[in-house]
This record gives sequence, C-alpha cells and structure tokens, in this order.
Amino acid sequence: MSSRSHPVAGTAWIKTVIEGDTMGESLQSPITSTGRIHGKLASYADLRQHRAVSHIIRNHSTNKQDIRDVAGAAIDWPCVGTILDAGCGYGWFEQALDGPFEFLVGIDTLGENEQPFMDVATRIAKRAEFRELHLPCPTGLPSGGFDLVVAGYSLYFFPEALPELARVLAPDGLFLAITHSERMLEEGERFFRFTNLRSLIRRFSAEDGERVLKACFGRVTWIDYPNRLVFNREDTADLEAYVFFKHEFVSRDADPAEVHERLLQELRSGSALSFNKDDRIFLARK
Ligand SMILES: C[S@@+](CC[C@H](N)C(=O)[O-])C[C@H]1O[C@@H](n2cnc3c(N)ncnc32)[C@H](O)[C@@H]1O
Repeated sequence: MSSRSHPVAGTAWIKTVIEGDTMGESLQSPITSTGRIHGKLASYADLRQHRAVSHIIRNHSTNKQDIRDVAGAAIDWPCVGTILDAGCGYGWFEQALDGPFEFLVGIDTLGENEQPFMDVATRIAKRAEFRELHLPCPTGLPSGGFDLVVAGYSLYFFPEALPELARVLAPDGLFLAITHSERMLEEGERFFRFTNLRSLIRRFSAEDGERVLKACFGRVTWIDYPNRLVFNREDTADLEAYVFFKHEFVSRDADPAEVHERLLQELRSGSALSFNKDDRIFLARK
C-alpha cells in the first residue's frame, strides 16, 4: 500500500498551536531493558523546559507544517463527536483542536498529566475525563463508543492494548496513530548503540506499524511526514537544551554526559548536525 497525502480540509476544526507543544517529543517514561516503562522522566515535569524544547524543535525542523494539521486534514470532523486519546500526555493533540465535541477521554499512566489534559479537554468538549491507567489494561469504556481513537507518539509503549482500543472504536470510526521512523536513531548510532531505544521504537514504528495494526484493523493507510532537525554551528545552545531534554531517555543505552559531549564536539567540528525526524501518520479502520 502506498502512502497518501490529503488536501487540507476541515481547517475550521483545527488550529495550529504555536505555544506549548513538543511536536510529539514528550517521551515521559524511562524504558526498561524489556521495552517496558516505569516511573517518569523529570524533564517532563518541568513545563517551561518542555515548552522551550518545543520551540527548539519547531525552529530547527525542516518541515514547517504542523503534523497535527496534516493528520487533521485526513479526518472527517463532522462525523467525530467522541474522542479517546491513549497516551494523551498533557493534551498535545487536543491543543490543536477546536470543538465542540460531545465526549473526550484521555488515558495516561502519569497522573501529573490530568490537570493539563483536562484544562485543554474542557475547553473543546462538553464532557471530558482523564483516566490514569497503565495500558494494556481494561479501560472500562463502552464498546464502539468512540468515533476517533488517537495514539500520538505513544503506541510503542503499549501495542498490546490495540485489541482494547479497537474494541472501543465505533464500527465506522477511525484509529489514528502517529509514530517515529526507526531511522530517527541513525545519526546518534554513528557514535552510540541505542539498543533499548531501538527495541522500543520497533514495537510500533513507521516501518512496521502497518503489520502491527493489521492484526486488529481491516484497512490501514498512512501519510508520511518527512522532516529533519538541523542544528547549525551557531546553534550549540539549542542543541545542548535538546540533548539535555533527552538525557534520561537515552540513559539506558549510553552515558547522557558522553552523548551530550560527543554531539557538541561534532557540531563544533563540522558545519551542521542533522537528525532524522521522519514520522508516519497511520489511519486504521475496522
Ligand atoms: C511521547 S508521549 C506522547 C504524549 C502525547 N500523545 C503527545 O504526543 O505529546 C507518550 C505518552 O504515553 C504515556 N504512556 C507511556 N506508557 C503508557 C502506558 N503503558 N499506558 C498509558 N500511558 C502511557 C506517557 O506517560 C506519555 O504521556
């Protein structure tokens, strides 16, 4: 199946958010050697740091279109009254939406996300709920209850939850998942072996996501979002902040201080450093 692109549509329902998003960079849980997660990353507890990194990512991305606008253009918004966001974080996906929706539920393993998620959700939905759950687990949500089920940069943490997410999706509903390419690690792997990180991404990656989704959905298509993060020689401060934000995430594979030092050295000795940031938006239907 080939990738599809869509004309921009439904823009009345989507608004691009400049402040407060991380383009899906909010990896909030450390990974164990088995790819499972526990605890949380301190970086994400600091919302100001989170916002600053969001701007860095946006400023250094070669693709200037908001990926949520790209995803949103593929959704038939007038048919969407109920939304479930699995691994919702602080409501990154919802920040780009205008309602009103009937019912919006966010699930996340981190209770800290409840308030920020609810702040966004209550603005755009008549009824909103946050459920602190560690997927996969029963959600207690009704079968076929959601027109749209979203998993933004989160499904690799819990691909085993797909049968439950498919169960709560309405028969003619849409499951939308955004994920990274395995190639995102290529540049860093010139210097370090990110074995843990790679095994996590492989659980639901751009390259393999279709196979994973086909186990639970009849029709699977996707839209590619090509992108790179480029840091020029004068951008050492931004690169430092970005690498610092990631330090707990890489710490199971490498010493974060070494990663930091090595990447800065590379930047100083060359003219630019660039990282693969290609993402894929999967659209699945029953
Ligand atoms: C990379 S963040 C993405 C958050 C949000 N969707 C976004 O794009 O900004 C992954 C989210 O999944 C949540 N998460 C990770 N493992 C989870 C699990 N097993 N069950 C529920 N949520 C989980 C994390 O707490 C985090 O908020």
